[in-house]
Amino acid sequence: MAQKSDSKTPKKSSAKKSASKSSGPITSPLGDADREITGEVLQDTLLDLIDLHLVAKQAHWNVVGRFFRDVHLQLDELVTAARGYADDVAERAVAIGVSPDGRAATVAKGSGLPEFPADWRTDKQVIEAIVDSLGEVITRLRKRIDETDKTDLVTQDLLIAISSDLEKSRWMWQAQLA
Ligand SMILES: [Fe+2]
Repeated sequence: MAQKSDSKTPKKSSAKKSASKSSGPITSPLGDADREITGEVLQDTLLDLIDLHLVAKQAHWNVVGRFFRDVHLQLDELVTAARGYADDVAERAVAIGVSPDGRAATVAKGSGLPEFPADWRTDKQVIEAIVDSLGEVITRLRKRIDETDKTDLVTQDLLIAISSDLEKSRWMWQAQLA
């Protein structure tokens, strides 16, 4: 609704009307209400993905055990993927006029991932933790796919693509526990 009325409003009065929330330097293709909901979805996803990258690096450094090399290398693949997704999500936020916040303190407060324990971890412990973390990220992403169904299909498309890749990754981690 908000999107429709905004697009019909002449530029000047539209800028006045939305000055409270969209007064930043990047104008949005979305109306205020849709931008706000989509922006929150992207921000929350960004925090999960930055944390996923940090968890995977922590595990990459601390893994020990018989399958060290495979797990160590597979973790760096996850690091690269999570960093790439985080960048895509942050830049989608910018593209809809929302400033992304990827600061460490914000991630520590807002990530939905389970805490990864400090110290050495066996290869099995690491694999179990990564399966859990990926499961949590995926569950949260799937809720956000629903939330963006009516606010922004372009963002929804991005979240679907990320979920598809992470679900494949989760399978490849979980297969090692069979
Ligand atoms: Fe390394």
